[in-house]
Amino acid sequence: MRIDVFTLVPHAYAWLTEQRPLAAVLGTELDLRLLNYRDTTPLRAGQVDDEPYGGGAGMVLRVDVVAAALDAVYGDEPAQRVIALSPQGRQLTQAVVEELAREEHVVLLSARFEGFDERIVRHLASDAISVGPYVLSNGDLPAMVLVDAIARRLPGALAEGSGEWESFSAELDGGLEYPHYTRPAEFRGWNVPDVLVSGDHKRIEDWRREQSRARSVH
Ligand SMILES: C[S@@+](CC[C@H](N)C(=O)[O-])C[C@H]1O[C@@H](n2cnc3c(N)ncnc32)[C@H](O)[C@@H]1O
Repeated sequence: MRIDVFTLVPHAYAWLTEQRPLAAVLGTELDLRLLNYRDTTPLRAGQVDDEPYGGGAGMVLRVDVVAAALDAVYGDEPAQRVIALSPQGRQLTQAVVEELAREEHVVLLSARFEGFDERIVRHLASDAISVGPYVLSNGDLPAMVLVDAIARRLPGALAEGSGEWESFSAELDGGLEYPHYTRPAEFRGWNVPDVLVSGDHKRIEDWRREQSRARSVH
C-alpha cells in the first residue's frame, strides 16, 4: 500500500519512520511518501496560507496551494482516497483504520493554524477524519496516528499473533483486551492471578475472554 502525506514538516516524521512496526513494513508492504506543500506552491517565497476572508485571527491553508501539490504528484489521475485531517471530520475508530488498511493508496492532508480553506475539504478531499474531539495545533500528529495505526495492520508489521487479540479486534468482539502480567509473580503483595501460572490453556483463554468482556461493559 502507498500512503502520501502532504505536510509542511516532512522532517517531523523521521522519528515515526524509525520505529517498529512502521520500520518493519517500510519499503515492502508500505510505501510512505512525505510531500511538502512548499515544494510546489505557486506563490512567492514559499507562501502556503493566507488571511481569512471576513476577518478574524489566524491563517488558512490556501486551496490553490493544495491543488498545485496534488496536481504535481497525481496529474491527470487524481487519487481516490484523499483525507483531510480535521477535528471536524468523522471520528477515527479501529473500524476506520481497518477500512483504510485495505486501500491501495491513501493520501493525507495536514493543515495548521486555522485549518483548510473549506474548498479543499469539499472539492479536493474525499473524506475528513478527526483523531478525537479536541483541537491539536496541526494535522501532523493526527497523520502520524493514522500512519502508525494503518501500518500495524499490514502483513509483517507485527510478530505472529500479536495483532489479532487486541482491543477492538473481531477476536474480542470489538471489546477491550484482557489484562497482562509479567515477572515478578509477586510484588509488594500484588500477585499475578493464579490462573495465569496454572499452565491450563483452556482456563487461561476462558479467563481472558471473561476479563475482556468485563472491562468492555460501559
Ligand atoms: C488548530 S487546528 C484548526 C482548528 C479549526 N480552526 C477548528 O476550530 O475546527 C489546525 C489543524 O490541525 C489539525 N487538527 C487539529 N485537531 C485535529 C483533530 N482532532 N483531528 C484531526 N486533525 C486535527 C487539522 O489539520 C487542522 O486543520
